[in-house]
Amino acid sequence: MNASLIRLHLLKGIILSTERILNLIDAIPLPVLVIGPDDRIRATNTPLEALLGTDLIGKHHITALRQPAVIDAIAAVRQSGSKTSVRFVTRERDKDTPFRVLVAKADDDVVLTFEDQSAAEDVGKMRRDFVANVSHELRTPLTALLGFIETLSGAARDDPAARARFLGIMAHEANRMTRLVDDLLSLSRVEEDERVRPREQVELGALLASVIKGLEPQASAADVAVRLDLKCPVQHVPGDAGQLTQVFSNLIENGIKYGASGKQVLVTLEEPVNHLRLRGQGVQIRVADQGDGIAGHHIARLTERFYRVDSHRSRQVGGTGLGLAIVKHIINRHRGRLLIESELGQGTIVSVFLPVASLS
Ligand SMILES: Nc1ncnc2c1ncn2[C@@H]1O[C@H](COP(=O)(O)OP(=O)(O)OP(=O)(O)O)[C@@H](O)[C@H]1O
Ligand SMILES: [Mg+2]
Repeated sequence: MNASLIRLHLLKGIILSTERILNLIDAIPLPVLVIGPDDRIRATNTPLEALLGTDLIGKHHITALRQPAVIDAIAAVRQSGSKTSVRFVTRERDKDTPFRVLVAKADDDVVLTFEDQSAAEDVGKMRRDFVANVSHELRTPLTALLGFIETLSGAARDDPAARARFLGIMAHEANRMTRLVDDLLSLSRVEEDERVRPREQVELGALLASVIKGLEPQASAADVAVRLDLKCPVQHVPGDAGQLTQVFSNLIENGIKYGASGKQVLVTLEEPVNHLRLRGQGVQIRVADQGDGIAGHHIARLTERFYRVDSHRSRQVGGTGLGLAIVKHIINRHRGRLLIESELGQGTIVSVFLPVASLS
């Protein structure tokens, strides 16, 4: 390239050589494309080459860009002189990557900058999915409630037996909605203070015993025996007692709900040892059931909000599918680890690893 021909003024009075300009463009982390007045590509940088390929210099921009929206935007900016932005999508195998392309005029050139929009679009999609899930979860019990209200004010008005039965179902549906709202509030609170380290000391043996006591009615209704095996009878960890109660309530309750009737759920608190997962001293609390187990491909997804293996069974037992999402956030706050191991037909073991010393 002829350097004297492409000398550009960056600041009044400062003249930079082509090489300096190309170096400056190359230092920009976003893909950049410069198109000359003859519509041919004048400069690119390394991120742009990664995006659209190498050997583009001197080619007509249509060959590199191909998408009509961008080509129209270049023509419009050349005419009007004012900036614009346009969507550009690259397709690689089965993945689309959306970009926002800023098109601006710089003297006789047109400069294109590409901003990857995947993260922003993923967040948007997550938010939409979340709202759709919440609406769906609320709509089902609401539809049932409205149906029963209609029946009770019409056909079943003077039928005391039907009335009592329907009121029972209505109470069940209303409880489900309350539980969902409680779980949603709990999830947002837990997310809020995830970065704040818990400072109190919690005695795990007593906490596990009290959680199990609280779940006794549910366990005996399901005909499941919950056993506690404390390998170290008194064990303190830095933690938030309320949140750790929530963790073990959900795990032991899952063991009861998805375990097998007539069988047992075994809760074990191991002696503190050095855990690679914690990079230090920690305890392992295991909740093992003898239920149907969970197929391998579900395991990684169990901590996603609203993810259920068998949504019919989960709803029947009053589950919202938020329990393990809450558990994961709480364990993250405690700098602990969660491990789910399961074998179909054998049962599930959920382990929580918690550091015994505060790592500040
Ligand atoms: N011990 C287990 N055995 C078999 N499946 C389990 C077990 N624990 C969890 N699951 C599966 O993982 C799903 C998610 O569990 P999670 O605790 O997040 O939700 P839930 O129990 O359905 O509802 P919630 O905890 O909000 O009442 C459950 O719906 C169930 O399908
Ligand atoms: Mg649960």
